[in-house]
Amino acid sequence: MSSPVRAIINVDVEGPTISRHVYGHFAEHLGRCIYGGFYVGEDSEIPNEGGIRLDVVEALRALKIPNLRWPGGCFADEYHWMDGIGPKEDRPAMVNTHWGNVEENNHFGTHEFMALCELLGADPYVNGNVGSGTVREMADWVEYLTRDGDSPMVRLRKQNGRDEPWRVPFWGIGNEAWGCGGNMSAQHYAEEARRYATYCRDHGDNTLYRIAAGANSDDYVWTETLMKALNELGGCGRDPRGIYQAISVHYYTIPGTWADKGNATEFGEDEYYTTMVKAAFTDELLRKHSTVMDCYDPDRKVGLVLDEWGTWWNVEPGTNPGFLYQQNTMRDALVASLHFDIFHRHAERLVMANIAQTVNVLQAMILTDPETGALVLTPTYHVFAMNAGHQDAASLRVDTVGEVPAREVGSEKLETVSVSASRKGDDVLISLSNLDASEATEVDVDLRGGAAGAVHARILTADALAAHNTSASPDAVAPRDHLDVQVTDTGVRVPMPPHSFVTVAVSVA
Ligand code: AHR
Repeated sequence: MSSPVRAIINVDVEGPTISRHVYGHFAEHLGRCIYGGFYVGEDSEIPNEGGIRLDVVEALRALKIPNLRWPGGCFADEYHWMDGIGPKEDRPAMVNTHWGNVEENNHFGTHEFMALCELLGADPYVNGNVGSGTVREMADWVEYLTRDGDSPMVRLRKQNGRDEPWRVPFWGIGNEAWGCGGNMSAQHYAEEARRYATYCRDHGDNTLYRIAAGANSDDYVWTETLMKALNELGGCGRDPRGIYQAISVHYYTIPGTWADKGNATEFGEDEYYTTMVKAAFTDELLRKHSTVMDCYDPDRKVGLVLDEWGTWWNVEPGTNPGFLYQQNTMRDALVASLHFDIFHRHAERLVMANIAQTVNVLQAMILTDPETGALVLTPTYHVFAMNAGHQDAASLRVDTVGEVPAREVGSEKLETVSVSASRKGDDVLISLSNLDASEATEVDVDLRGGAAGAVHARILTADALAAHNTSASPDAVAPRDHLDVQVTDTGVRVPMPPHSFVTVAVSVA
């Protein structure tokens, strides 16, 4: 066992609020995410409402899913929303050139997505098409979705069966404009983003939070270019947030190369630690993008949105390489728990994050069997569930005393214990990850500024890092009560087995 870690939390000193939207999700027309994942059609034997799988809805409601980004991803920049409204039999098909070159029948469109969000109780985050669309097309979509009264788009919406406007809080101005979204330069995209965002109007009392398509990972120049473009418009006393209110960034955890990313379930310790180093890089990534933004926006009014993150492995053998279907192990769970600690620490600037993707694609919450339709919850799902109490809670700073156990990984040092905490009313939630593959540890948490009352601890771990859930064995990795956590004179003592994730809910007076 590595030496115990001492962590101090002042429960009466509240930091910035952790937006619930950092627990956000992403659903693209990619592989079996929409079709077979969220949507099975009304004639399916799988219980559904308007074609939307009710078991998927129930599982995501249990996570308090705060928002859902749609329709892409790369797909967003070749999606023409008018093809996805009206009677299904009249909707034109298209080829999904990004993902498997399969035919998209457009049966899941705007009305189906909004119905899904209503069932989930999640805020819609619609991503508009800049790459192959037009300003008018995007402006019309906003009008169709959010305008009340009478107008050409309102009449069209009513004709398609929906009288009331929907609320759409989040709007994406394209996706990955540096790549699949149009291969643009930063400067060119910044000008396009200003132009498109101008015509994404606030109709009635629907106020859009417009998110400009951001950097590929550590391309800080991209962020700077978008911040400069905002600042130029704010130069004459105008509020720069009037154009776009946030900038996104995408970062995936890949231990290998894009050509050979690594196997989802077969990996050694070295590859595991490399994965964790890559995941831990998210802290530096968010810090540096925030620093660039601080130069132009010291009051932190412009938000940073990590609207694609997660692990990306080689696809499962025998599946369509364009469908990005991968298994999800205890390693993925720790990638998620580490990300959340980082997100909590960046609460002041990070307003949203969306894991890619919710069902059957990349680091999913849910896997469904294409033959039987059976649903499996992944280890990553359980991390989201155990951490749900952090949503909209005040972040609490965690200070460690002395050395934190660490591993040398190539030229990098990986601290193997990660802790974050938050407070909502009298409830303090502490999340702890032991990233060490083979060593147990113990974390002594001093809770200062409040007396600890009732404690409820949960643990997620498994015999092997590669352990995962299948329909034959759906609970191979599942949380259970962690009865070994002790209340001490100063707080709580938390034993941490190797590769484990623990949450401790403490009520403080
Ligand atoms: O999430 C899969 C793809 O990854 C998205 O479509 C794209 O934005 C990113 O490159």
